[in-house]
Amino acid sequence: MAEVVKLHDLEFELMISKEEIRARVSQIGGWISEHYKGQNPVFIAILNGSFIFAADLMRAVTIDCEISFVKLASYIGEKSSGKIDELIGLNTDLKGRTVIIVEDIIDSGNTLTRFVPMLEEMGPNSISIATLLIKPEALEHDIIVDYTAFEIDPKFVVGYGLDYRELGRNLPGIYQKI
Ligand code: IMP
Ligand code: MG
Repeated sequence: MAEVVKLHDLEFELMISKEEIRARVSQIGGWISEHYKGQNPVFIAILNGSFIFAADLMRAVTIDCEISFVKLASYIGEKSSGKIDELIGLNTDLKGRTVIIVEDIIDSGNTLTRFVPMLEEMGPNSISIATLLIKPEALEHDIIVDYTAFEIDPKFVVGYGLDYRELGRNLPGIYQKI
């Protein structure tokens, strides 16, 4: 009797519960707090999808830390556009900083493959990646991910910040397309 959620023309079923997410995010927050002690890391969260993960992750971190939000070219429908047109909103000086990118989901890896070099140009001391989800079977690039909450099958998912045509971001769990 799994709950079915309908968004536009598609139906979704629960894949990862809010309790599982909470436990995993708090574990990753604990690791980040240990690994970056004394470094005042700055989270760079990629909007829109990562806003909920970023907010929960930051609250699970107990050391000094900062956050800044950036926006990249939008993802339309079920397929990644495969290119970034613009980087909007980054007004933090990253020179010498410890940067942790916060992403909602790594699918093909196109987004991060274009985004990471843009950040590197700003001269940070280090760049790490924290992602809520990754679809290893869909990955088309070599990307070293430092913190992954959940590896999933290459299915379309929504919830906890992720959308299907802008709906579903407010679901507290993660739901997969049926
Ligand atoms: P990539 O560039 O192919 O790695 O895709 C990354 C971006 O595509 C993510 O930040 C999401 O915005 C979007 N995306 C990829 N897969 C999904 C999905 O299953 N549901 C919702 N958005 C997705
Ligand atoms: Mg995204």
